[in-house]
Amino acid sequence: MASLYLSCVNTTFSDHQYFSLRRVFPKPSYSTTHANHCTHSPQVSCSVAANGGQNQKEPAFQNVEPSKGKVDRRNVLLGLGSLYGAANLVATPSSSANPVQAPQLDKCGTATDLITHQKLDVNCCPPISQSIVDYKIPPIFQMKIRPSAHRVSPEYIFKYNLAVDRMKRLPADDPRSFMQQANIHCAYCNGAYDQPGQGTLDLQVHNSWLFFPFHRWYLYFYERILGKLINDPTFALPFWNWDNPKGMTMPPIFLDPNSALYDVKRNQKNLPPAVIDLGTTGNTDPLQVVANNLTVMYTEMIRGNSNAYDFMGKPYREGTPAEPGPGAPERGSHTAVHVWVGVFPGGGEDMGNFYSAGRDPLFYCHHANVDRMWTLWQYFLPSSKFPDKKITDPDFLDASFLFYDENAQLVRVTVKDCLDNRKMGFDYERIDLPWLDYRPPPQTSKARIARVTSTAPKAETIFPLKLDNVVRFQVSKTEKGKADELLVLENITLDTSKFLKFDVFVNDEDDNPGELDKAAYAGTYAQVPHKTKSSSASTSIQLKLTDLYDDMDIADDDFIVVTLVPRHQGPGVTIGGIKIIENPPKSS
Ligand code: C2O
Repeated sequence: MASLYLSCVNTTFSDHQYFSLRRVFPKPSYSTTHANHCTHSPQVSCSVAANGGQNQKEPAFQNVEPSKGKVDRRNVLLGLGSLYGAANLVATPSSSANPVQAPQLDKCGTATDLITHQKLDVNCCPPISQSIVDYKIPPIFQMKIRPSAHRVSPEYIFKYNLAVDRMKRLPADDPRSFMQQANIHCAYCNGAYDQPGQGTLDLQVHNSWLFFPFHRWYLYFYERILGKLINDPTFALPFWNWDNPKGMTMPPIFLDPNSALYDVKRNQKNLPPAVIDLGTTGNTDPLQVVANNLTVMYTEMIRGNSNAYDFMGKPYREGTPAEPGPGAPERGSHTAVHVWVGVFPGGGEDMGNFYSAGRDPLFYCHHANVDRMWTLWQYFLPSSKFPDKKITDPDFLDASFLFYDENAQLVRVTVKDCLDNRKMGFDYERIDLPWLDYRPPPQTSKARIARVTSTAPKAETIFPLKLDNVVRFQVSKTEKGKADELLVLENITLDTSKFLKFDVFVNDEDDNPGELDKAAYAGTYAQVPHKTKSSSASTSIQLKLTDLYDDMDIADDDFIVVTLVPRHQGPGVTIGGIKIIENPPKSS
């Protein structure tokens, strides 16, 4: 086994050790440095600063045997942690164009309802301002520490509620008012903007490498506006810790109908104690769902990614069509949470449809955790296994957006200025990461797989494929080399107005896998409904197989059996082709 196993053992964190909010905001001296971001190499011990630097109990990084990394299913609710790194990096797609530019606000058009195809009754467009300032991050006097929403104090809840209440009471045309803030999402995500100077090409911040940066800036200003409204420059948004069993229910602070944090348009079946289903499997056994969730997290954060683009999303440049392809977290857990909160059947409002998602205060809490996943990817997963997590392409770094800041000044921000959360003045409460080493057990028997394989058609014979039912087919592996192997699904065409999802399994013998918690789960494609001009998008994804082969002990086989399981009802997805490639490609 070539992979390297690291462990950042957090099992010592028990409830009484979780630091209270008062300790989250201790003195200006909570100044963890980047050393705590764990950009470590093996054998280096790593401080996770679990308690604000006080009473520091250092979880040590150490090499461990793979088998020791397994998590006992009965323990998943307790939240265990250790770290397993993966993947080498591939060549960077070449850049030749220009960065996507910030929209022209005076050219903002009307967004369209996805379901009725009527113009939306809400105008998503922000107030126009002639003065645009290039934003400079102000000096940081005290790091804001975003807390886990399940663990906040009554004082915090009071302040947060007050801030959102005041935001809701601002005049409707104030760009800082709650509805204007919500409309930012609608405008940037539902086709209200075109790319400046590029005809009618949509400007879209989802399903590409702009996804993480755009939402980071969005939350950054939302948070600053809230802080200003309560005169507390240290105010930090909470994050919904849905990646940890302790946070896998809707955070209670959003559920009081008398609170400004409440939204009536949520799926009532999914209120607590329902456990969030990050795999959108429909399974209702809480223990099974938790196990599925940890497998989803492990797969999308670690096992399934071979490079920065697999995580961040595909390059999206000026003059190119929107939605080239989402990164693994965007199409996985991120979409699942949107859809789980929104009201289906129906239009998915509020959270389950991009035009309305920002109207639910829970949206910003959800996205704080999405953003936290980015910080973990950047600073916590070992550099030795992901040597190049940075995208240095100028078309990425120089892409820009417009937002109104806390003083209602229109500002232009760039991707390169948001790459380091601590330079922006915020960080996240440290919580253990039970998915880090959640290596799912193989549950296949060689004999049964051999039988399944003999009846599975070859991939070449069934593509292009309309994905209406479960399909299973054989794909030949590449010749065994040192490189990683990637499963590529190409020319995926989607009806963007629908919630669509499918899962990918490898050598799975089960026809209806409602259980993702096994080695056979390779990845997911899922999208939140949204409007694009063409109402369809073509995209591709790749899933790294190398570590999955190791987990399943099938590295020496000549081909694999792939199963695609649609989770949506009816048509909507067509897949153009599928293949296994080497990464990096063999130089021949
Ligand atoms: Cu802009 Cu979670 O979507």
